[in-house]
Amino acid sequence: MAAIPQHIIDQIRESINILDVVQRYINLKKRGQNYIGLCPFHQEKTPSFSVHPGKQIFHCFGCGEGGNIFSFLMKYEKISFIDAVKRLAEEAGIALPTTTQDKRAQSENERLFRSNEIAGSFYHRQLSKLPERVQAYLAERNLLKETLSAFQIGFAPDSWDGLLKFINANKLPREPYQKLGLIMKSQREGRLYDRFRNRLMFPIHNASGKIVGFGGRSLTDDKNTPKYLNSPESAIYRKSRILYGLFQARDFIREQNSAIFVEGYMDFLQLFQAGIRNVVATSGTALTSEHANLIRRYAPEVILCYDSDSAGIKAAVRGGEILFQNRLDVRVLLLPPGEDPDSFVRNNGPEAFRSKLAAAEDYFAFRLNITRENFDLSRAEGRSEAVQNLLDMLVPLQDTIRSAYFLEKIALFLGVPVKVLTNLYQKKVR
Ligand code: CTP
Ligand code: MN
Repeated sequence: MAAIPQHIIDQIRESINILDVVQRYINLKKRGQNYIGLCPFHQEKTPSFSVHPGKQIFHCFGCGEGGNIFSFLMKYEKISFIDAVKRLAEEAGIALPTTTQDKRAQSENERLFRSNEIAGSFYHRQLSKLPERVQAYLAERNLLKETLSAFQIGFAPDSWDGLLKFINANKLPREPYQKLGLIMKSQREGRLYDRFRNRLMFPIHNASGKIVGFGGRSLTDDKNTPKYLNSPESAIYRKSRILYGLFQARDFIREQNSAIFVEGYMDFLQLFQAGIRNVVATSGTALTSEHANLIRRYAPEVILCYDSDSAGIKAAVRGGEILFQNRLDVRVLLLPPGEDPDSFVRNNGPEAFRSKLAAAEDYFAFRLNITRENFDLSRAEGRSEAVQNLLDMLVPLQDTIRSAYFLEKIALFLGVPVKVLTNLYQKKVR
């Protein structure tokens, strides 16, 4: 990225209202000329954070933080100035000057997106001539027509060269499909073949609705084929930055101020289809702070809804910690053993799921309860390990007021004087 000229930066600042941006993250109330709310940069109970639409600035009387729309985004999203400018430029529809290198990378990415789109339509079109067994499978999994078309779900034919033949017949360049991992080259003979065969295809969209990759569910009972196969990472697909379904669900997530995280494509689709639409799927990947930053643009709260087996609980502990450390309010919904969101909503209906949602436990309380199971708190050794484990979770908060609040809770839970915990914690932070 070349240096961005000042007049373009000014143009961006003038065309976006700071109030609109801040309100995506914080509830503000009008007070005279200004708007006030709870400061996101320190812990407080009475609002001392204010936004001045007239001057297009924000200021907190509590912690002294202040600045313009760019500094707000940098501080809140923990991004660089350039990234804040890029993001707001995109929102304002203002083009930034680019170097030749940028342009080349951009048009290469566009080519990849286009190829994914073409492959996606190819898979989707197969739905009109499905083998009977696949039609039966769709019916058995309760995937409705509207869902198939809203999510561009498709079918990869049971053949080594279904997509390949289509590409050749239409004289499309093969190289982008190889870069995307849709077409593979055999090591021995260098022959080309389709990665996805005899699979139900789920296109994975980024937040602006472009296909970055695919997940394919196997349609055979053959134990040697993996149940799910995914596109490899590519220039346009980074697993740590993608949440399945975000593009279709984002307005609902904003409306509800809350996002439900499930693990699988099917979990997502059944909930969405049942009218529970503020949902995304992590698709079996570990949650990252990039996921946390991504979802925080849409809602302050995440409800983790994973399987209640030991793997699901582990994923909730770990994923919840990442989200918690990245300033999201986290809750955990554990379904009855043996159920996943897909089966639960199909067996019990959306209302039963909604009441589970309402009762979902606060992550911190969940974490304390798990501590009781993971450590032997009746022994000094176990208690000491539990203290270390819980304090380690608080260290990255970098927020003394917030951590003080949780230290109190840990002290109460373990029956350890809060002073002792605070000392230990401060040592860790240093
Ligand atoms: N997953 C994957 N690769 C695998 C297994 C799972 O990428 N080999 C991802 C998929 O995104 C899948 C999610 O992890 O949707 C959850 O996996 P799992 O619970 O095993 O599958 P379900 O979603 O329950 O699949 P289904 O209901 O189709 O059997
Ligand atoms: Mn399932």
